[in-house]
Amino acid sequence: MSRAVDGSTIVAGVAGQPVKHSLSPQLHNAWLDAAGVNGVYVPFAPPVDGFRRFAEGLRGGAVRGVNVTLPFKEQALSVADRATARAQKAEAANLLIFERDGSITADNTDGLGLLGAFRDQAPGFDMRGGPIVILGAGGAARGAAAALAEAGAPQIRIVNRTLAKAEFVAGALGKTGRPYALDQAAQALAGATAVINATSAGLVNGGRLEIPLDATPEDAVVMDMLYRPLVTPFLQAARDLGRRTVDGLGMLVAQAEPSFEAFYGQAPPAGVDARALALKAMEIHG
Ligand code: ATR
Repeated sequence: MSRAVDGSTIVAGVAGQPVKHSLSPQLHNAWLDAAGVNGVYVPFAPPVDGFRRFAEGLRGGAVRGVNVTLPFKEQALSVADRATARAQKAEAANLLIFERDGSITADNTDGLGLLGAFRDQAPGFDMRGGPIVILGAGGAARGAAAALAEAGAPQIRIVNRTLAKAEFVAGALGKTGRPYALDQAAQALAGATAVINATSAGLVNGGRLEIPLDATPEDAVVMDMLYRPLVTPFLQAARDLGRRTVDGLGMLVAQAEPSFEAFYGQAPPAGVDARALALKAMEIHG
């Protein structure tokens, strides 16, 4: 980083616990460098039980805003004084803006990230073209479902290990939602235009996700929201079947773009290969 920090430097950052593995500081600081913006983007690691105190302490706008990652996305929404419709629908926020009047605005750009990743890696895919399957019924799945519904998906099939949670998430979608248990996955996958893994299986000690991907049509697109490793076993299984795939890194980069604009008042500059940069950071930071 070659930028000087002075009295008018715009400060923003990312809050998570842990935050060490977040790729956002690399991305945003590279964009700041390339755009010549007087700003800085810092990682924050509030204690697991201290997010509210952390966010309350930033009221007033000395820090312009923060992205929020695990495990604070739900709390981020509850600490805010107002929230965009998409954050309310996702019941979670990944972006807080600290207004000068002391109030906090919550937004959620994860849905834009999901749609952006499809646009980049599965060009021509039509969200309105048929049923889309989401695996999982946690916060990530809820956010994905809200974004797909907004983009006009005619049917959203929620497949989850715990059926009751799938029923809850599908129920919130009204006529568009359909719940399935894990052992009904083949039924859910039949005729689907896309399958999105929003479970945490494979993460930490999550275990492996056993999904009969061969039940999808040959032209179905398969996405994983996880990106460590970049080609997850789930995506590899899809590739082995010849399916088009979309990776989680595409989503990470695409959700960072509107965040950057919210913090620094301009879109990220062209000419930075954000994906290559994130990949390099993954090699260095694990
Ligand atoms: P997040 O906020 O990241 O979505 P979460 O709310 O803990 O995290 O949700 C994790 C999701 O992954 C849940 O849908 C969970 O299924 P359950 O509702 O049955 O717990 C799913 N999940 C986690 N490990 C899994 C595994 N080994 N197999 C299948 N589903 C798994």
